[in-house]
Amino acid sequence: MRILVLGGTVFVGRAVVEAALARGHEVTLFNRGRSAPQLFPRLERRPGDRERGDYRSLEGGRWDCVADVSGYVPRHLGQAMDALGDRVERYLFISSHAVYRREGLRPGATEDTPRRPPLRDAEELDGETYGPLKVACEDDLVARYGERATIVRAGKVAGPHDPSDMFTYWVRRAAWGGRVALPADPRQPVQVLDVDDLGQFVTRLLEDRRPGAFQAVGPARPTTLGGLIETCARVAGSQVELVQVQDRELPALFPLVRSNWASQLRSSARARAAGLPATPLAETAARVLAWDRARGLPALSHGFTEEQERSALEAAAQPRLNSDPAWSQPGAPTASSASTASPSPASQRAPCRDHSKSRSVRRPPR
Ligand SMILES: NC(=O)c1ccc[n+]([C@@H]2O[C@H](COP(=O)([O-])OP(=O)(O)OC[C@H]3O[C@@H](n4cnc5c(N)ncnc54)[C@H](OP(=O)(O)O)[C@@H]3O)[C@@H](O)[C@H]2O)c1
Repeated sequence: MRILVLGGTVFVGRAVVEAALARGHEVTLFNRGRSAPQLFPRLERRPGDRERGDYRSLEGGRWDCVADVSGYVPRHLGQAMDALGDRVERYLFISSHAVYRREGLRPGATEDTPRRPPLRDAEELDGETYGPLKVACEDDLVARYGERATIVRAGKVAGPHDPSDMFTYWVRRAAWGGRVALPADPRQPVQVLDVDDLGQFVTRLLEDRRPGAFQAVGPARPTTLGGLIETCARVAGSQVELVQVQDRELPALFPLVRSNWASQLRSSARARAAGLPATPLAETAARVLAWDRARGLPALSHGFTEEQERSALEAAAQPRLNSDPAWSQPGAPTASSASTASPSPASQRAPCRDHSKSRSVRRPPR
């Protein structure tokens, strides 16, 4: 197949391109050429800018399908659809689970969950507008392409090259071992999807010409935040002791901590039936750990700073939580115990980027 990827060079789109190439498809990239311009040197590139509405490079050519990874507002999709018209057979749009309304949900919600009202008169992305703007994008796509439209509503995605640092924080923190400050109930459910599973799923949907919406969430086996950290520790061969700390003065968007996640658990049944792979969480963690070490453990943008974690641990009552099996991965061996493992020397850690304080120390990779 000839696949046009709008985006394709950062994280999700990159995985889509890699999966499509691995399946022998021909890929054309449309982007500004700013993010990782050295990637995929053999692929055809069509330069353009969605913010400026510049799609001139798409004027000629035909594709079997387009994978739109970089559309966030209805104007992005409208202009891309105007530019492409019927020169693409299928239009697949990467949407988000943020399209769904948040209230009154039960775990295991399906694609039929009511969505939030569409938003059309805004272009600024924030926690309130992101989901409704994606709703409007979905609606406009289906209105134009009908059965030739495919929508993938991704949950939280994890893997190498993730610019959000959300999963990477816990992979790195668990690898350091010792007492880990957790500003959440370790039994909080969490869903993270391996980015390669998402890339392969998108390719499969295109090959099978599947219409409709699919929510892509993972891993296949249910887990909790405590279980996720333990899995990461097990992969790194470290010992962790989780210490639940108060969430006072919690940095914004703390990695994978969500008070409402229990009600926001989505069913992956439809996507699995359509071919969504199920990479075990431990494999995702191992790839992220290797990638993070290979790139030299740069400062992260989210999570506790070293100082914040130390003071949170000092303030905590320090209950031992590891002996509670309820939040461990079902069937998974417990990597840590209520051990007295010493924390890594604080001076050798650099868990995250702190915009107020400079932190550049790094623990050498193990
Ligand atoms: N990460 C998650 O957990 C998660 C969860 C749910 C949904 N999603 C969805 O996944 C998608 C994001 O994936 P990604 O950023 O990793 O995708 P990506 O396709 O790997 O990277 C973004 C691409 O968009 C291009 N781009 C950015 N601004 C552009 C512009 N103005 N004009 C043309 N191209 C532009 C970038 O290249 P240039 O910079 O060179 O232009 C880059 O190739 C979004 O649709 C998001 O809603 C992600």
